[in-house]
Amino acid sequence: MKNTSHQTMRAVAIDEFGGIEKMKPRELPVPEVAPDEILLRVDTAGVGVWDPFEREGGFAKEFGMQANFPHVLGSDGAGTVEEVGDQVHNLKRGDRVYGINLMSPKGGFYAEYTVIKADNAAMIPRALSTRDAGVLAVDGVTALNGLNKTLQLKAGESILILGASGGIGHLAVQLAKRMKARVLAVASGQDGLAFVKRLGADKVIDGHREDILKAAHEFAPKGLDAALLTAGGKAAEQAIAALRAGGRAAYPNGVEDVPQARDGVKVMSYNGEPDPQTFAKLNELINGGPFEVHIARTFKLEDAAKTQQALNDHYLGKLALALN
Ligand SMILES: NC(=O)c1ccc[n+]([C@@H]2O[C@H](COP(=O)([O-])OP(=O)(O)OC[C@H]3O[C@@H](n4cnc5c(N)ncnc54)[C@H](OP(=O)(O)O)[C@@H]3O)[C@@H](O)[C@H]2O)c1
Repeated sequence: MKNTSHQTMRAVAIDEFGGIEKMKPRELPVPEVAPDEILLRVDTAGVGVWDPFEREGGFAKEFGMQANFPHVLGSDGAGTVEEVGDQVHNLKRGDRVYGINLMSPKGGFYAEYTVIKADNAAMIPRALSTRDAGVLAVDGVTALNGLNKTLQLKAGESILILGASGGIGHLAVQLAKRMKARVLAVASGQDGLAFVKRLGADKVIDGHREDILKAAHEFAPKGLDAALLTAGGKAAEQAIAALRAGGRAAYPNGVEDVPQARDGVKVMSYNGEPDPQTFAKLNELINGGPFEVHIARTFKLEDAAKTQQALNDHYLGKLALALN
């Protein structure tokens, strides 16, 4: 018998990998907690640009794993701890937490309840609402891993952030400023420019309309120290061309039109892998002052398929599902 009063939950799941039509609202059993896991009552689920890849079976293939159908979609979110496994001592029932759960056989975040490894979760930074924290985990960890572990960004360095008004980008702009770097933000659209300026970037340009190389040259005449690329293609090529000799660029795996290396600079791919140290560092930086986690649109769980369709539109920050 579970501690939660509920034995079943509303969820959106698939019975096989495929298109958006495979996504169905369902009533499913609340998953059971193992000793190193927590059961979360989900308040908000993030809807990532990678969720269609999960739905189509891309991650299952990449990780060489069988899905446990019906598979509940969704890889990050936030809520309240309902139950903790015997080995979990750092979190307790009632705590507000956010976390990551990618391709778990027990299902993901498009549900009223989800089970996650305690190491893949953390307390929500005190200044953030549970709603906003619902879209933070994957993109926050990926932004920080890019800046900190991969680029090893130092105070005073210049960095270009491509896709600065997107999910990873808008978090990376604020984290890089908190790491005392000089930030050239390459955003999308008039709304994206205004948004990223408000977040504290030193200079903002529209990567769809303006000349990135020219702007980078004005910003850092001797060449940029670093670039975080959350989009690929010509804009990424220009960002790499604007690096100084010995400069470095990083892009999370999944960016399409994979950025290409050039002589004299390092171009590194990486993943936003969660661990307790990364969450601690992310929370410390977020707690260092006002911080915005931006949700462009919030949908109901039952509209999860519509939400995945909306990923193709232009929007700022992230999309979310509200579970209550
Ligand atoms: N490996 C990992 O661990 C990991 C984790 C998270 C994400 N990812 C990958 O990282 C990538 C970014 O993720 P995300 O959540 O940040 O996605 P996102 O919210 O779609 O961010 C990408 C942003 O780039 C903008 N953009 C594209 N071309 C641009 C240009 N030329 N100039 C300015 N802005 C431009 C897009 O805006 P418009 O659409 O308006 O152009 C969008 O806002 C995705 O490929 C995702 O799959 C990987």
